[in-house]
Amino acid sequence: MPKKKNKKKKDSTKKGKSSDLRKKTRAKKKSQTKRRKFSPHLLKGMKDILPAEQRYWEFVLKKSEELVKSYGFQKISTPILEEKALFDRSVGEDTEIVEKQMFTFKDKGGEEVCLRPETTASIARAYIEHGMINLPQPVKLYYYGPQFRYEKPQSGRLRQFHQFGLEVIGDDDPVIDAQVILISYNLLKELGIKPSLQINSLGCQKCRKKYLRALLNYFRPKKRFLCSDCQKRLLKNPLRILDCKNPNCQEVSDEAPQIVDYLCDECREHFIKVLEYLDKLEIPYNLNPKIVRGLDYYSRTIFEIWPEDEEVRSQNALAGGGRYDNLVSLLGGRPAPACGVAFGLERIINKMKKDNLFPPEKKRFDVFLAQIGIAARKECLKIFENLRREKIKVAEAFSKDGLRQQLEIANKLGVRITLILGQKELVEGTIILRDMENGTQEEINIKNVVAAVKRKLKSRVKKRKLL
Ligand code: HAM
Repeated sequence: MPKKKNKKKKDSTKKGKSSDLRKKTRAKKKSQTKRRKFSPHLLKGMKDILPAEQRYWEFVLKKSEELVKSYGFQKISTPILEEKALFDRSVGEDTEIVEKQMFTFKDKGGEEVCLRPETTASIARAYIEHGMINLPQPVKLYYYGPQFRYEKPQSGRLRQFHQFGLEVIGDDDPVIDAQVILISYNLLKELGIKPSLQINSLGCQKCRKKYLRALLNYFRPKKRFLCSDCQKRLLKNPLRILDCKNPNCQEVSDEAPQIVDYLCDECREHFIKVLEYLDKLEIPYNLNPKIVRGLDYYSRTIFEIWPEDEEVRSQNALAGGGRYDNLVSLLGGRPAPACGVAFGLERIINKMKKDNLFPPEKKRFDVFLAQIGIAARKECLKIFENLRREKIKVAEAFSKDGLRQQLEIANKLGVRITLILGQKELVEGTIILRDMENGTQEEINIKNVVAAVKRKLKSRVKKRKLL
């Protein structure tokens, strides 16, 4: 009997073991199929910038940097990751950006951080932290980089997008506002885009208080005609009702009081001076009472630049900016009035593409280096380095064997010269230099290859110039 019992026990442990094994195998298979099924994809609202598009980016950035440097701006780079509180304080806790759109998380030390939704606040922080108030004022800075906003993805609205921006910190003169606008205007024009400047003034805190009261008195009796978002805005941020895109809200806000009628004497005078400078510079503008901007730090001049010839222009602003006289002091620094602008680079590049504006295409390669056989390939590795060091734009296909295949690549690249090194040439210490434009070729001493290529390229340039 006891034996039988033992056997039963053995059987049951055996059964137990085999069912465990089966479970494990099933789980393994499941995870394997899961792994096999997983196909990586781009996150919503993000965008890859492929090599074919890079020339737009290089062109726009080069133009922008050249332009702002000519106005005395210096580059600043700040981290993408910042304290969340920086934006709560500056952009404003009741704004859409802070309330709904920030990529926020706790880091491993438990600190609340976020991917920057914009860069002005970071620059104000850097201005304070690095004591830039002790530099000659105003400090003129420019920056470029990715920004993150968790938006509903739609055309022209990404979750990661790039801005090129300018900030002038430490001066409240209206000429600064006019100059920031002038640079923005010139930049878009240089890229071939027709800008439409929309401008308004938000006044200072004193005049805005009076204005907000007037706005509330106007909107309250019309609350039922507003969209649900604007009904909430009525309590938190009534200014934003003015730039709501809902047609009903737009109709209601058409007759709303305008801030320019509530500006105090200093703010009115400041705004008039900005407009006078713009008149002098012959920059056309549209006084737009519905421009209010979506960030809390603004005071006095605010503006947006829209594409002049688009149907839905307000939703496709190419740039936005304005004065933020209280931001530095709000963040704990000594008061330093400031003004700036940021350009949305994806929107600018999309506009260029839409308008068939192509950045000039530079020739990528002038020379192709072809090789036949292992020994020639080894020698070509060295020749390639010698040419590259002399700044000659040289291409190769070292992993290919056939000459025909290599010449096809050379043709596709549109090079002016192809160098060919085979067994015979290697033994004789020569290399073939083929002129791809007229098909002639010559054998040259392998030791003189760099000089011969340089001479040939120069003579081509000269001929072109003569023509
Ligand atoms: P902003 O109006 O929020 O201003 O953004 C400036 C520009 O960035 C917009 O006009 C637009 O071209 C682009 N942009 C904004 N959000 C997106 C998005 N989700 N997808 C694609 N492009 C977008 C600011 O950020 C302020 N920091 C500007 C400033 C600088 N004010 C003073 N100094």
